[in-house]
Amino acid sequence: MVAHKPYYRLNVPSAGNLHPIEIYVQIRNMTGLLSGIYHLEPLTQELVLISEIGAAGIEPYLGVEHRFNGVIVMMSLVPFRSSWKYGLRAWRYLYLDLGHQIGALAASVHYFGHYLTKMFTNDTDGLNRIMGMGEDERIVAVYGVGESSVRLAKRLVAPLIQVEPTDYTSRIPLLVSNIKTIPLYCEIPITTHGNDFVAINHSRRSARSFSADSMSDTAIVELMGLKAPPSLEIVTLLLQVHTMHSGVYRKGQCTILGDFIPEVIHLLLDQRFITGATMVVLMYGEAFDAHSHIDAGIYAQDLYLLCEHLGVGCSGIGAFYDNEAIRWSNNPLHYAVAIGGRS
Ligand SMILES: Cc1cc2nc3c(=O)[nH]c(=O)nc-3n(C[C@H](O)[C@H](O)[C@H](O)COP(=O)(O)O)c2cc1C
Repeated sequence: MVAHKPYYRLNVPSAGNLHPIEIYVQIRNMTGLLSGIYHLEPLTQELVLISEIGAAGIEPYLGVEHRFNGVIVMMSLVPFRSSWKYGLRAWRYLYLDLGHQIGALAASVHYFGHYLTKMFTNDTDGLNRIMGMGEDERIVAVYGVGESSVRLAKRLVAPLIQVEPTDYTSRIPLLVSNIKTIPLYCEIPITTHGNDFVAINHSRRSARSFSADSMSDTAIVELMGLKAPPSLEIVTLLLQVHTMHSGVYRKGQCTILGDFIPEVIHLLLDQRFITGATMVVLMYGEAFDAHSHIDAGIYAQDLYLLCEHLGVGCSGIGAFYDNEAIRWSNNPLHYAVAIGGRS
C-alpha cells in the first residue's frame, strides 16, 4: 500500500507511472490453454479470453501464411493515458515506455530458453482493425514466441470486440495521427540477464533517492560495459567515484575530466534526488524518431535489470531541457538514467 492505495509492482517503469501499454496475445496449440486471442490484465494477473481461434487467426495479418504454434505478443499504445499529463511530449514517453516493455519481454523470453520471432506487416491499419482497436489505441509492436506449423492459417473475418482502453478520453489529433504513420517496431533486442532474472523482474523499482558514494567502481565499469544499440550514442557522466576520475565518458574512456554535478542536475530539470547519483547515462540518437526512442527504452530496461542485479538503484529520467543537452553531443537527447547506491 502507498498512500492508502494498493501499489502494484510492475515489471517496467513508466513515465509518471501512467503505463500506456497494453498487451494482447494469440495463443495457439499450447497444452492447457484454449487457443485464442487474449488480453493481459496486469492487476489481476489474468489472461482474459477475447475470442477463441481455430484455423483462422491473426497470422495472415502479419504476413505469416502458416499457423504459428505458441504465442504472438501484440503491444499497443494508449496515448491519452500519457498525453492528458504531458501533452505532445507524451510522444517520447510512449515510445520509451514501449522500449522498456519490449526489453522486459526479450529478457524474459531469453531467460526461459526461447527466442523472439520478428512479426511485421505494412498494413498496420488492417492489423489494428481486425484486433478491434479504436481511435484511442494502436498496436505498435508484435513478436512471436514459438514456431510456424505446416498448416495454413485463414484470416479472421470479423474484428474482435474492443477492450476499452480508457474510461475517459481526449485526443491530441497530431499525436494520434503521427502514431498511425509509424511502422511496427520489429527489431529483436540483444539482452543480458543473470540467473536471478525472475526475482529481479518482480522486485525492481525506480530509485527515489540515492546514497552518495556507496556504489563501487566495479559496478560503474560493469554498467559502462553494457552494449548499446547502434542507433544510440551513449554519454556517461561520472559524478562520484572512488579510484576513477569524475567526468564525461564515452565507450568506457574519460574524454573530459571534471565535476559536472550542478550542470547535470540542472539539465534534468533540477530534480534534487539526482544529486546523490554516482552516474547519469545520457542516451542521444542520431535520428529523432520513434524507433530510436524505443531503442533507448530497451537499453534503459537492460540498465534497470543490471542495476538490480548489482544491488544499486536507478531511475529513468525523461524530464530534461532539450537545449541544455547539446553541451555533450550534437545529437538530440532521448533519455537519461540516473544510477547510484541505494539509500
Ligand atoms: C520514460 C520514463 C521517464 C521517466 N522520467 C522520470 C523523471 O523525469 N523523474 C523521475 O523521478 N522518475 C522518472 N521516471 C520513473 C517513473 O517515475 C517510475 O517508473 C514510476 O513512478 C513507476 O515507479 P516504478 O518504476 O518504481 O514502478 C521515468 C520513467 C520512465 C519509463
